[in-house]
Amino acid sequence: MRIGVLTGGGDCPGLNAVIRAVVLRGSREWGHEFTGYIDGWKGPLENQSIGLGVEDVRGILAQGGTILGSSRTNPEAVGGGIETVIENVRSDGLDGLIAIGGDDTLGVARVLTDSGLGVVGVPKTIDNDLNATDYTFGFDTAVNIVMESLDRLRTTGTSHHRALVVEVMGRHAGWIALHGGMAGGADLILVPEEEFDLAEICTHVEACFEAGVAPLIVASEGAVPKEGSEVTSAAGTDAFGHVRLGGIAGWLADRIEEKTGREARSVVLGHLQRGGTPTAFDRVLATRLGYKAIEAASEGHWGKMTTLRGTSIELAPLADAVDESKIVPAQRMVEARYGYPD
Ligand code: F6P
Repeated sequence: MRIGVLTGGGDCPGLNAVIRAVVLRGSREWGHEFTGYIDGWKGPLENQSIGLGVEDVRGILAQGGTILGSSRTNPEAVGGGIETVIENVRSDGLDGLIAIGGDDTLGVARVLTDSGLGVVGVPKTIDNDLNATDYTFGFDTAVNIVMESLDRLRTTGTSHHRALVVEVMGRHAGWIALHGGMAGGADLILVPEEEFDLAEICTHVEACFEAGVAPLIVASEGAVPKEGSEVTSAAGTDAFGHVRLGGIAGWLADRIEEKTGREARSVVLGHLQRGGTPTAFDRVLATRLGYKAIEAASEGHWGKMTTLRGTSIELAPLADAVDESKIVPAQRMVEARYGYPD
């Protein structure tokens, strides 16, 4: 068989481990040949590809980012885009595609499958918000980066008796804030799933200082004040209709300082959370997902994606990744609050 591989959406640690597993197993077990499409859906849309052989994936297991490049190109937003992708993939002589991406990339994969082009999906996002899988690779690496950052910020915040507000990624789901915050012993965690009350936060900040704790607050970029809206850092939306979030930590630190008179500073972890080498957990998960994805393609299970269920790697319909996102349940926030100072 001849199979195309692409990585779409925001990059995340572990993408190269998936590509490596797909190519190694596919070449060795079935003698498949691979084409790597460049920069997500832009590759098949604009006919940009490279050969992808065993020698190309040597040594990439621990490498962050993606050797294929990525973009948020959406063929559905381009007139005749879906038809062009199908035409180009067919004229490249490919039997189908393996698309590694989040809900946007897998949404396009689903439309292509419905239009007759075989695609197998592999779920990825540091946000961990895909419903069809228990964990996405990249999430564990991001959480560890948040935890290490909080450990460092704790000592400087304490030394200077300052409140520190740390902004982490998570557009509509607060998984990174919740896990990173719990692991780093945050004194308050704000997630997009629960609107926050500024007055309550200021009371909590005061209580922390009274208890001798310089408060360390973790806020998802998508956290929203009760009397307000998401804080955005740029006008407009991307090709999938997403606004660019950013700025909630600065917004909150300013208000805490204004209302409590306590010094408050903000830190935005941003793309640090997506860069660099994957953790052991993410390397293993990404490798297992890639191993299963090439098996699914070889057996013609188009329209499916690989998923982690408990400790097993299984197949699920692509639609499961796209239809509903996985958000933080209220009970998980109750557990987190037990760690806060009184
Ligand atoms: O991939 C999802 C995500 O990590 C979101 O949490 C974040 O809003 C977004 O990527 C930012 O991506 P970029 O700056 O690359 O558009």
